[in-house]
Amino acid sequence: AYVVAEPCIKCKYTDCVEVCPVNCFYEGANFLVIHPDECIDCGACEPVCPTKAIFPESELPKEWAEYKTLNADFSTKWPNIAEKKSSLPEAEEFKDAKGKRGMLDA
Ligand code: SF4
Ligand code: F3S
Repeated sequence: AYVVAEPCIKCKYTDCVEVCPVNCFYEGANFLVIHPDECIDCGACEPVCPTKAIFPESELPKEWAEYKTLNADFSTKWPNIAEKKSSLPEAEEFKDAKGKRGMLDA
């Protein structure tokens, strides 16, 4: 499955949602996750994310390994999101910021 990693935090552009053929994205307050059992590995979401937050599990950077579990866990708790919406107001400011893990609203 594909995994949403740290760059999405405080941005949530949702371009990924618009291209996913199986609607397997789930939405938290300032982060999105992919349900690993629903993702069909089509790869459509990876190139459209403005923050480059999405990776195939096999290419997930080691520093963000934890996000595999975070996606699996939160996708069972958060509501599904099937339509693109506006990005967060602070998205541009935080797009290239590092160390956003502590800012994740869970
Ligand atoms: Fe959806 Fe395809 Fe991305 Fe999986 S890889 S989340 S199926 S767009
Ligand atoms: Fe997040 Fe990128 Fe989607 S910022 S909401 S993973 S387009």
